[in-house]
Amino acid sequence: MKLKTLSQSKIKNKRVLLRCGFDVPFNKLGKIQDDERIKQSLPTLRYLIKNKAKVIIISHNGRPNGKKIKKLAMDEVAKRLGVLLKKKVIKLPDCCGKKVTDYISKMKPGQVVVLENLRFYKEEGKNMAKFAKALSELGEVYVNDAFANSHRQHASMVGIPKHLPSYAGFLVQKEVESLSRLMKKPKRPFVAVVGGAKISDKLGVILNLFNKVDALLLGGALANTILKAQKIQVGKSLIEPKMITKLSKLDLTDVRMRIPVDVMVMKKEKGKEKVYTRPSGGVGKEEYIYDIGPDTITLFISILEKARQIVWAGPMGYFEDKRFSKGSYEIAKAIGKSKAYTVVGGGDTVDVLDDLKIKNKINFISTGGGAMLRFLQEGDLPALKLLK
Ligand code: 3PG
Repeated sequence: MKLKTLSQSKIKNKRVLLRCGFDVPFNKLGKIQDDERIKQSLPTLRYLIKNKAKVIIISHNGRPNGKKIKKLAMDEVAKRLGVLLKKKVIKLPDCCGKKVTDYISKMKPGQVVVLENLRFYKEEGKNMAKFAKALSELGEVYVNDAFANSHRQHASMVGIPKHLPSYAGFLVQKEVESLSRLMKKPKRPFVAVVGGAKISDKLGVILNLFNKVDALLLGGALANTILKAQKIQVGKSLIEPKMITKLSKLDLTDVRMRIPVDVMVMKKEKGKEKVYTRPSGGVGKEEYIYDIGPDTITLFISILEKARQIVWAGPMGYFEDKRFSKGSYEIAKAIGKSKAYTVVGGGDTVDVLDDLKIKNKINFISTGGGAMLRFLQEGDLPALKLLK
């Protein structure tokens, strides 16, 4: 895929609107828990600063759905960026409006500002033309460095490029090159492991990805939804009801598709939380599936051991709670140890690697979860089509 890249752009003294994927997790104290996604955009930022652009960063964080939620504000991101760049980074109070335009009109070359969370406006997610136009007027050049969000038809991703000369940042370029190489001539057996909570995003994709892999290992809420679609009791577990009909047609007798044979559940008994291992058909009505079980771990690891190429997106369960971290951790360790070419993507999945300090054992880490899977399936993404 030929993208227009940053090095082809004319940016000196220009206002560059840089869409970053600074969707980072915060801890209970409101501090950034993992700044990997910020660090990944430093090469693009340093290039823009060195080449005397006026850098205006736009990004979303979380899913505030049009509400101004203080804990999802971009202040901490701007602070962290200042530390990483060793430079003053100003956070503006909004992402549009007079205060923002006034400030931007006085910016000096090499200066960096961060605007407020784009998703504080519902117009962003709805890709409203007026909002995209207003954002585009803040800049003279647009750069997309938000690979993780490039599957979204949002104003900042697909609306702005209609109004400005638009380029791929170095992170987007690196992701596209690495992931394209992976799909060109996959090393076989090629095994994909998919889990996580963002179900609707992934379900459609895995049905197609299924044709490209030799084994598809499923966990997390994704697997719960498939079990439910097959009329297997999942109790009160997280599922995506809208996908049930589509998934009921899945052929689970195809040996390439592996769903959990056992699971870890949480059940409330006399006000206390109890944890049990259950076979996949034996989950009670009041129980929550929060992890894959020991037999599933053994089965998945045995398949991973034979793989020569592995892609992993989405944890196997609620790994943030240590009672349910075993599934994700064991899978992560097996992928870390594997001699296969390994690719891992998505914020939560990378957090699992971080917990175990094994990020350096993975061949390529993508900032995208849903975006990575969709790219692997289609070889393109909606926002990338506008950068060609
Ligand atoms: C991600 O975390 O994968 C991206 O930031 C996209 O977030 P979204 O699924 O809320 O659009």
